[in-house]
Amino acid sequence: MVRLVSFTFVLLPLAALAHQEPFSALPHVKSPSKSIAIVGAGSGGLAILKTIFDLPEDVRQGWEVVLYEQRRDVGGVWLPDPPGPLPHFPKLPESPLYPLLHTNTPHPTMTYPGFTYPPLTPLFPSHEYVQQYHADYAEHYNLTAYLHFHHKVVAADWVGDSEQGEWDVVVEVQQPGGPSHVSKRSFDHLIVANGHNHYPHIPQWDGTEGWLANTPRGTPKRQILHSIYYRDPAKYTNRIVVIVGAGASGRDAALQVCKTARLAYQSLTPNSEPTPGATVIPKPRIAYFTNTSIVFEDGTSLEDVDSIILGTGYEFRVPFLSPPHSSVLDVDPDTTYNSTTAPSLVTNFRYIFPTHRHIFSLAPGIPPTALAFVGLPVLVANCPSDIAQSLLIAHVLANPSILPTRADMLEELVKREDKLREAGLDPYYVGHRLVAESETDQDYQDNLVQYLKDVGVLPEDGKKYVEPWRRLGRGKAQLLARAWQRALQLGEDRKWLEGAETEEEWADVMERLAKWQEAYEDEHGIPEFEDQSVWYLLNHVSRRAGDGISFSCWIQMDRCTYLEAYLRW
Ligand SMILES: Cc1cc2nc3c(=O)[nH]c(=O)nc-3n(C[C@H](O)[C@H](O)[C@H](O)COP(=O)(O)OP(=O)(O)OC[C@H]3O[C@@H](n4cnc5c(N)ncnc54)[C@H](O)[C@@H]3O)c2cc1C
Ligand SMILES: *[C@@H]1O[C@H](CO)[C@@H](O)[C@H](O)[C@H]1NC(C)=O
Ligand SMILES: *[C@@H]1O[C@H](CO)[C@@H](O)[C@H](O)[C@H]1NC(C)=O
Ligand SMILES: *[C@@H]1O[C@H](CO)[C@@H](O)[C@H](O)[C@H]1NC(C)=O
Repeated sequence: MVRLVSFTFVLLPLAALAHQEPFSALPHVKSPSKSIAIVGAGSGGLAILKTIFDLPEDVRQGWEVVLYEQRRDVGGVWLPDPPGPLPHFPKLPESPLYPLLHTNTPHPTMTYPGFTYPPLTPLFPSHEYVQQYHADYAEHYNLTAYLHFHHKVVAADWVGDSEQGEWDVVVEVQQPGGPSHVSKRSFDHLIVANGHNHYPHIPQWDGTEGWLANTPRGTPKRQILHSIYYRDPAKYTNRIVVIVGAGASGRDAALQVCKTARLAYQSLTPNSEPTPGATVIPKPRIAYFTNTSIVFEDGTSLEDVDSIILGTGYEFRVPFLSPPHSSVLDVDPDTTYNSTTAPSLVTNFRYIFPTHRHIFSLAPGIPPTALAFVGLPVLVANCPSDIAQSLLIAHVLANPSILPTRADMLEELVKREDKLREAGLDPYYVGHRLVAESETDQDYQDNLVQYLKDVGVLPEDGKKYVEPWRRLGRGKAQLLARAWQRALQLGEDRKWLEGAETEEEWADVMERLAKWQEAYEDEHGIPEFEDQSVWYLLNHVSRRAGDGISFSCWIQMDRCTYLEAYLRW
């Protein structure tokens, strides 16, 4: 048994929330001591809203908090697009969510501390559960009165200097079925939780236009689509597809499309592997296109491909802070500036800099407390990370003196960047991925909360913020995914979930499943998941078959998970 430690929120118990109307312009209402605008009602926006209301009532007395969300409900990327046809590039869908989306991490590791998924929730739930979880959270903590749906922040500019000033915020109010109007008002603080899976990164290659324009007669029309537009693997039935990338999006597309496509390739960077479980033929990076073919960096080319899915990730953009709407966040893809020379905040699409611990703006000309981000770190369990960040933000709003000086924070940032360079990494490429030494996502969260203990606003309890079971669940996510797959195949999934309700009980489910799978894999000699790439499998299989099997005959085999394929073989 792992020792289970639950982190209890140390702030005073929640007082009944004041259901004041946020746009309180009535003359008798005392002017608020602070006004705070939050942008976005995904994991990040809900986290900061809840955490602000966890502050003792006397501390947040007179604060006015407004959350603007452009869409119809909470949940961010977990809230599907409205029904109807998808928009075409350059118009973007509201969410990259596709019908088959399940989490790739076990839900107990994805929760806000102290708020579990409902009993019997599958360990790797489909997207509906995640959206519902966010809705339940807002409801349970009485946050809904502060949420303004169909309110899109179109501009936010800082009117002031590095010491004081205010935000001029322009909001487009889109009344469903009615006319939209623009409203303007000022705020003292702006908290940005706009997500970073909304603006697709689309690599540019020579020759794409000619390739797209020259579909050979009698074959499906050639297309190149970013994964933000990916919805239904059936669309790829009998097609020949190249999936570019092996990140979360490329991985899912590969796993799903390889089951319907005639042939699927996966184009990979030198340090990535084809997706385990996907029957795909690995290719290197694309070099360029001709009218008839796709040419790869190793000089090989493919002539019969008709579809390309770009799992090439997303860009960090905050349009309402950037020109032409605002001068707060400069857009500089070539990274001509660095954290010490930047005249404002800058995004190179991978990294928004300079910030203090991926949260507070260190831009000259704006006080650090005026602008904070929630949710910039990549590849983390968002909800717990968002709460750790929100704890720092909420306490700094309550007591700005706990924040180091801008100069000290900048020095800390430059140290982090130097450390990354020493490890051979480019900090402006790494961006908000937490890859520096002692900078795992859990260390990052622990450090944020430890800081609040060190400065005395949270009591020292000798515990780490991230509970041991959360670390275990994240560390063994792939093992648990295989365990869950097997439980489903055996029809035993429900049995594993029965009775789990509290965090400790969910932790126990993960622990028992991991042991069950480890024992199975020990006994059956299944190699480590990391080695189970299809590439490895192809080599392995061809060796056993004495070269009697070709790539394409492997690809024609029943599309299945690695495990099934391996056993069947
Ligand atoms: C396909 C996909 C699968 C994923 N799977 C997993 C997983 O399995 N496990 C995991 O841990 N993480 C996963 N993630 C990561 C996911 O991004 C996080 O789990 C988390 O939901 C992000 O929350 P967020 O609040 O930061 O951003 P978002 O969910 O993007 O929310 C941002 C919100 O801000 C709103 N907004 C933006 N701009 C404005 C504006 N100008 N005015 C008003 N509102 C605005 C948006 O409408 C949106 O609702 C996945 C992401 C994607 C894209
Ligand atoms: C939410 O509000 C209701 C009604 O005012 C109250 O009974 C309940 O305790 C509140 N819940 C929380 C978590 O504050
Ligand atoms: C490629 O196709 C375009 C038309 O789509 C044509 O104008 C061009 O000449 C072709 N290039 C070659 C090298 O054939
Ligand atoms: C930023 O760039 C300036 C000028 O090119 C250089 O002197 C400085 O060392 C750089 N600082 C960092 C933190 O990279």
